[in-house]
Amino acid sequence: MSTVIKGARPYGEGDPVDVLVEDGVITAIGTVQAPEDAEVIEANGQVLLPGFVDLHTHLREPGREDTETIDTGSAAAALGGYTAVFAMANTDPVADNAVIVDHVWRRGQEVGLVDVHPVGAVTVGLKGEKLAELGTMANSQARVKVFSDDGLCVADPLLMRRALEYSTALDVVIAQHAEEPRLTVGAQAHEGERAARLGYTGWPAAAEESIVARDCLLALHANARLHVCHVSTSGTADVLRWAKDRGTKVSAEVTPHHLLLTDERLATYDPVNKVNPPLRTESDAEKLRAALADGTIDCVATDHAPHAVQDKDTEWSAARPGMLGLQTALSIVAETMVRTGLLDWRGVARVLSERPAEIGNLADQGRPIEVGEPANLTLVDPDAEWTVRGAELASIAANTPYEGMRLPGVVTATLLRGRITARDGKIG
Ligand code: NCD
Ligand code: ZN
Ligand code: ZN
Repeated sequence: MSTVIKGARPYGEGDPVDVLVEDGVITAIGTVQAPEDAEVIEANGQVLLPGFVDLHTHLREPGREDTETIDTGSAAAALGGYTAVFAMANTDPVADNAVIVDHVWRRGQEVGLVDVHPVGAVTVGLKGEKLAELGTMANSQARVKVFSDDGLCVADPLLMRRALEYSTALDVVIAQHAEEPRLTVGAQAHEGERAARLGYTGWPAAAEESIVARDCLLALHANARLHVCHVSTSGTADVLRWAKDRGTKVSAEVTPHHLLLTDERLATYDPVNKVNPPLRTESDAEKLRAALADGTIDCVATDHAPHAVQDKDTEWSAARPGMLGLQTALSIVAETMVRTGLLDWRGVARVLSERPAEIGNLADQGRPIEVGEPANLTLVDPDAEWTVRGAELASIAANTPYEGMRLPGVVTATLLRGRITARDGKIG
């Protein structure tokens, strides 16, 4: 089986070239004489990137298949340009054992649109009381590489210390949802002027920053790797800079929504804008963009969080936090980072593919576009624009905060090990 991508610009650089893919591997780059039976993708000078890797996706299977399944979430991922996603453990039942993580992995392979790597829970039932069997999950068929209680913080410092210590022996990474729970009781929105005016209980920046600082100290002490989920404040970027300077093995992600949206959205009263951590200030968003550009924040992760209408379309305080992200991530990065000149397409490859693949320890993802490398590829039309319609996205849920927005950057093809998983907005 062979495919030729004609006239693409790898990393948006140089003159257009043809890329030949045979049996899942890139076998020629340049002017290629395509085999007769080859599938041809006319790229017309579009940007060719390594397939995107999402370190932070919620797929809701098992438990809330009314909002997303591994099937529909994989479709959303492929359409968004992803070739691998990490599925968070806060399902029902929780992915805190080998049976669940292996089910998620196998189901992802059956669907075949994207590699679904299950994230294992750090603690049993996400209860924050007792460590889950990390080793069993790491050695299971799913070969779990990332552990997280995401949705909840591993707040107990002793438990976090132990998790970090175990993680080094297993060569896995602990991804922390940094939220000191004692500081966010009843919190509804970013603690600041806008929340105060509306009478919402605030979620202070320090609730995130204090946990990130603590965990960086614990990680350095244990010589362990730490990954910080959804960084939302400029203060957290400062803490990360300080920790990296002194040799801490810490990595961090920022979501597309924290790069673009702010707590100005509170004025809409529309719970589609409710998310955890909350949307922060303009100044935070600006500093997060700078921190992503300079590498203080390593990568972009979607925190794709589908929710049912009845859980979202209700009064603000009762609504669940979270928003869709897989099909809009590339466009939000194009809008906030490329249009602003903060990143070129080489930089986009770094934050959407290479760094997340390294952090998640995936040997076959985020690879250079070179002969002999696995053909996990994403083709992007940088000049095209599209209008977001929640109802048209592949997810079952439709809770996108970008409804009706016109955004730059269209994913025109995604290839997983040489197989076309999405093309011109359609699966396969
Ligand atoms: C996530 C979810 O819905 O599972 N919600 C969110 O607001 N981000 C949980 C999480 O990422 O903390
Ligand atoms: Zn979280
Ligand atoms: Zn999450």
